Amino acid sequence: MMDKKDQYILAIETSCDETAVAIVKNGKELLSNAVASQIESHKRFGGVVPEIASRHHIEQITIVLEQALNEAKVTMEEIDAIAVTEGPGLVGALLIGVNAAKALAFAHQKPLVGVHHIAGHIYANRLEKEFSFPLLALVVSGGHTELILMKEHGDFQVIGETRDDAAGEAYDKVAKALGLPYPGGPHIDRLASEGKAAIDFPRAWLEEGSYDFSFSGLKTAVINTLHNASQKGETLKKEDIAASFQESVIDVLVTKTYRAAQEYQVNQLIVAGGVAANKGLRAKLQEQFAETDIEVLIPPLSLCTDNAAMIAAAGSIAFEQGHRAGLDLNANPSLSLERYARRSRK
Ligand code: KG4
Ligand code: ZN
Repeated sequence: MMDKKDQYILAIETSCDETAVAIVKNGKELLSNAVASQIESHKRFGGVVPEIASRHHIEQITIVLEQALNEAKVTMEEIDAIAVTEGPGLVGALLIGVNAAKALAFAHQKPLVGVHHIAGHIYANRLEKEFSFPLLALVVSGGHTELILMKEHGDFQVIGETRDDAAGEAYDKVAKALGLPYPGGPHIDRLASEGKAAIDFPRAWLEEGSYDFSFSGLKTAVINTLHNASQKGETLKKEDIAASFQESVIDVLVTKTYRAAQEYQVNQLIVAGGVAANKGLRAKLQEQFAETDIEVLIPPLSLCTDNAAMIAAAGSIAFEQGHRAGLDLNANPSLSLERYARRSRK
């Protein structure tokens, strides 16, 4: 017999180019985490094509759903709530997940919970380790670069964010300029470990005390350096460009994160999003925080990039806090984290 107190959340994530369904028990225990990636289909275009993403999600969603239920050995009757990414993301892609979640909730008479994608990236870490507040989260992905302060579950205060390109976006654009395949982050990461940071690229510190970020100047500096070299007939080592670019990104990310962690006297630092997979960033953060009492949590690679387990983990807390969406739930492509937080704490 199933223990009545156990909570089972089924979650769906389709905000970008992964169709994902996962089942999580009691907010922390991963029972299944099915992901169908579309990267191969988008590669030849050098980025995600929204129409192609939507079409793939439609084709994959029921297959991935079945896989997640089979792997978890859980039936729909046992599920307590359906969580779904409602935003931010590509509207056409989000809609597939939102509609699939609504259909499931309606057909099986289950509560529906809308989840913010970034809350999901943060909560991926709770599948590994219980949170200790106050905590600071550094969210670095293809669409986001944010420093978020959390004083309790479901409470998100954005203390810094990018003013232009996201960190992952800068990685992907620089990779493109270097002729590397999409997504470029992992390729730059690998090349960086083989090169020397010999080129002094700029660091955008912004105004005194600001926790905001800016990466477009750095991206332009890399592209200009490549153009100047090719006009002079020189060839720069890709490894050195990658290493110099990566050092600039990591220097700014780690310095600002460290300063914010000290100022807000946090117990934990959480690193989340696709760029959290970066080996250079992980190593530098571990090194910088080693001397402090602050615990650094970085999820395993499979939980760094988009997945539905993180949506289930965040959805579990939102569900416990009484957050419910109606069958009129819509995709919300530019949903703000703070608006979402206020709503889920009601
Ligand atoms: O979180 P994510 O899977 O999707 C978004 O919500 O954006 O992040 C994808 C981003 C891409 O820009 C990709 O290049 C970057 O994460 N990324 C990396 C690494 N692995 C993935 N960036 C730097 N180093 C990596 N190892
Ligand atoms: Zn993401």
